[in-house]
Amino acid sequence: MKPDLQNLPLILKPFILFIFLSSLSFLAFLSLQTSRQTLNKTTTENASEQLPSDLKIRPGYSSYDAYLQRQLNKTLNPKLREIWTTRDWTRKVNVFSDFFENLKQRELLFNGSKSLCIGARVGQEVAALKRVGVDDSVGIDLVPYPPLVLKGDFHHQPFDDETFDFEFSNVFDHALYPWKFVGEIERTLKPGGICVLHVLVSRRADKYSANDLYSVKPLEKMFKKSELVELRSIDGFGLDTEVVFRKRRIKVFFFFFLPFC
Ligand SMILES: C[S@@+](CC[C@H](N)C(=O)[O-])C[C@H]1O[C@@H](n2cnc3c(N)ncnc32)[C@H](O)[C@@H]1O
Ligand SMILES: *[C@@H]1O[C@H](CO)[C@@H](O)[C@H](O)[C@H]1NC(C)=O
Ligand SMILES: *[C@@H]1O[C@H](CO)[C@@H](O)[C@H](O)[C@H]1NC(C)=O
Ligand SMILES: *[C@@H]1O[C@H](CO)[C@@H](O)[C@H](O)[C@H]1NC(C)=O
Repeated sequence: MKPDLQNLPLILKPFILFIFLSSLSFLAFLSLQTSRQTLNKTTTENASEQLPSDLKIRPGYSSYDAYLQRQLNKTLNPKLREIWTTRDWTRKVNVFSDFFENLKQRELLFNGSKSLCIGARVGQEVAALKRVGVDDSVGIDLVPYPPLVLKGDFHHQPFDDETFDFEFSNVFDHALYPWKFVGEIERTLKPGGICVLHVLVSRRADKYSANDLYSVKPLEKMFKKSELVELRSIDGFGLDTEVVFRKRRIKVFFFFFLPFC
């Protein structure tokens, strides 16, 4: 039987459309994989050679252990811990509460946000989150302070991928490997999740810092999976800039079209 030449294209049309859209989806998938690979490379290697010029790692740490010892030297100091948990407590919780209240008003933080504070020491920022109504919040630090702060190194956060809606930190300058610090935040944030950093760009930070940041540009470069959504000047315990990133949601545009073929 002779095929009906007029009908053939009509029958084939959905198939051709299907194949076309499938290959587009496949290409989208491929490009996603490639960008993941590039990201992994830059987050795991010693990338100091490829660091942006506005970010400098401080020399003088002979090993990772030497870096940890220096951080612990201050954090474990019993006299200071006494002060942080008594005289300093209320004043700092008040200031953090104002910052978080402000973020709630800008709809970057909600009562229901599962939240993490990175480098939270004795957990004043965690207490502040709870005070403004963000109950599901916890901190990490090299030294735990239960129940507010768990033990954890921010270069290797002790959490699964896509755990948090919100992450806050004012200790970026303490990162010996800033690209890992950022990579771990992007790993543990849910898509659409918010990261708020308080950083210092106008002056050099204290002697416990492990890096010096001269502008927010390096942050924009390192937050590869996120968009800069807000930037403002603040006065936050010696830090002068609040930077807000939102982790991008994966685009599923092509997949939406498949059912319609
Ligand atoms: C300047 S203090 C800030 C404490 C707290 N965020 C505040 O504002 O009161 C820096 C904190 O970062 C912690 N820290 C330094 N390196 C760290 C690391 N690799 N992982 C987790 N915490 C770290 C220190 O132990 C210290 O408690
Ligand atoms: C990174 O590697 C360079 C040499 O390529 C080395 O001098 C530097 O100490 C390393 N930095 C860290 C923090 O490991
Ligand atoms: C911190 O370093 C000082 C010397 O710089 C030393 O005397 C002190 O014992 C150290 N403290 C801790 C907790 O390691
Ligand atoms: C969030 O929690 C605070 C403090 O508990 C409460 O006053 C506020 O009404 C809550 N907001 C919403 C939108 O539920």
